[in-house]
Amino acid sequence: MTDVVGGLRLDTSVELLARGRFVDATLSEEDYVIARDRLVEGAYPVFGERGKGARVWDVDGNEYLDFILAYGTVILGHADPAVTAAAQREIADGFSISLRKRAHVELAEKLVEIIPGSERVFLLKTGSDATSAAVRLARAYTDRDRVIRWGYNGWHDWAAQRPGGIPGPVQGYVDTFQYNDLDNLRAVFEQHPGEVACLLLMPFELDAPGPGFLQGAVDLAHEHDALVVFDEMRSGFRMALGGAQELYRVRADLATFSKAMANGWAVSALTGRADVMAMVGKTHISSTFYSNSVSMAAALATIGELEDGVKLAHVQVMGSRLQDGLAELADRHGLPARVRGMPQMPFFEFTHPEPGRSRVLQDAFFAETTRRGVLLHPTHHWFICAATTNEDIEHVLAAANEAMTVAARSA
Ligand SMILES: Cc1ncc(COP(=O)(O)O)c(C=O)c1O
Repeated sequence: MTDVVGGLRLDTSVELLARGRFVDATLSEEDYVIARDRLVEGAYPVFGERGKGARVWDVDGNEYLDFILAYGTVILGHADPAVTAAAQREIADGFSISLRKRAHVELAEKLVEIIPGSERVFLLKTGSDATSAAVRLARAYTDRDRVIRWGYNGWHDWAAQRPGGIPGPVQGYVDTFQYNDLDNLRAVFEQHPGEVACLLLMPFELDAPGPGFLQGAVDLAHEHDALVVFDEMRSGFRMALGGAQELYRVRADLATFSKAMANGWAVSALTGRADVMAMVGKTHISSTFYSNSVSMAAALATIGELEDGVKLAHVQVMGSRLQDGLAELADRHGLPARVRGMPQMPFFEFTHPEPGRSRVLQDAFFAETTRRGVLLHPTHHWFICAATTNEDIEHVLAAANEAMTVAARSA
């Protein structure tokens, strides 16, 4: 396959994919990672060669403005020089040396300084590490088993979105609720009086929290003597340095961070009340790699770049321009579509009353934007990084304009 949607050569991606299918479990199951990575079958590159600033290049040499940003791990831009230099210094000094490195304490101090309510910090490596540690500590602290959760919170037993391999009784300990609906949340709490260890939620995903929702959710949980955990994996270090707790002036008991915190390096953090975090000594949460310090040095450098707020403000402005421009274009083309999400995490979706027609529009639009050098996710909200410029947004809108013309013909 060379010319999939008229001009974009993806030969090397296609070849690597074919080879990978024989050896890599994540590439062989048709409806799992392939679906996630390929986005519009045949139209998206799967393998990349390098990234710089707001751009990535695939293995066939095609250049794209990247708005997937490795699912939000990149906030400054790819291969940010300050972060790379900090990581290289740590690598050169040895970063797995049997003793904890200085960066461990320095990063914890920094997080305590900038994240509201964080009296203690536990540094881990992945988002699922952090959310699972939060649940473990909440259960240990309250001596209760149940969890009420909302959003994507990771892959471990209590949070996995597919039931395969998860014992039924474990699934039975977890409930979800309707976002922005306090009555629904109250009803879930009332089904299990005295049993809920914690309410763990993303503070928002596509829809902003309604007035009073986050505080109301915190109050409800506390009325039921349950702890509150904000899963700030996406909102942290993108919406505001102190995350949603700072933005909405609401205080959770625990909060979890990762993704943008180290601009792509693998580190996560559980932060929160000292008395709850003290449960670390009464349960088991551990990994050989937790004290591996390269990603901690990268996090310190990333936070250093973000601290004055200038780059995060720029991200918001770029996202707003993109959202405004897309809304205007959709209107002009008369397409059934809407812009959603926060400016820093925007999204654009088709809203044809017949889902099949929306899917046709979606595939056409996103294949065409990809072909024009813009990497947008068709089904997951996007992310904006600080390296994105006004010219980049103009380029995206020009590509979107042409893509809408093609999509309108396909509808
Ligand atoms: C809100 C949220 N929580 C938790 C996770 C899990 O993080 P990880 O994939 O690093 O385990 C993610 C990952 O996408 C996430 O977006």
